[in-house]
Amino acid sequence: MDKVKEVDKAKEWVKDKENSNLNHIKIMKTGYNNTIIYLFLISLSILTLPSCNNTKSESKANSETIIKKEVVDSIGKIQFEQKCVACHGFENKTEEQMIAPPMYAVKRRYIKASADKDEFVKMMSFWVKNPQPENALMRDATKDLGVMPHLNYDEKSILEIVNYIYSTEISKPEWFDAHEQSHKKI
Ligand code: HEC
Repeated sequence: MDKVKEVDKAKEWVKDKENSNLNHIKIMKTGYNNTIIYLFLISLSILTLPSCNNTKSESKANSETIIKKEVVDSIGKIQFEQKCVACHGFENKTEEQMIAPPMYAVKRRYIKASADKDEFVKMMSFWVKNPQPENALMRDATKDLGVMPHLNYDEKSILEIVNYIYSTEISKPEWFDAHEQSHKKI
């Protein structure tokens, strides 16, 4: 039997089979094509590897740490904006419209009261979990604005937010210096 006949026979046989069989053959074919693509990609990456090796492993580790820090910070930032800024933010608000002290002032007060980052985080998260007048550092604010409501946030979120507050620069409202001066005069 010559080759052409053999192929024709095979074609007939395939036609007689159910679709699943046909599909199976198709999958095998594409699998073969994919192998070629993978081989091509692998050889391409081997060719380009030496240029990556030029970067020192030290700076690679550094950039990984920076990326990790950025991810942690952005999780904290998003939650801070969702959960604290409504009251502690000053964007689009005059001094009179503020219902809580700006976070700039809150952070400054907590930095003053704590020895290091760990203590800062511990103190501020304790407050968020237990906002009672006797725990307040900013007694004037409690008197003027009423005590902060208890927010039912989980421990993890609170820690992420408070770490973010510590590590980021919180901006100061334009009116803040004048506000402080007027308080000192009283
Ligand atoms: C519904 C409004 C509101 C929200 C939301 C809010 N706060 Fe407050 N917060 C206040 C008010 C009002 C005060 C000032 C009165 C006081 O000290 O209780 C305050 C005060 C504080 C203080 C100073 C407490 C002290 O020692 O005197 C800290 C710290 C604080 N908030 C952290 C946060 C953090 C962190 C978030 C977000 C997770 C947050 N707050 C969300 C209203 C709010």
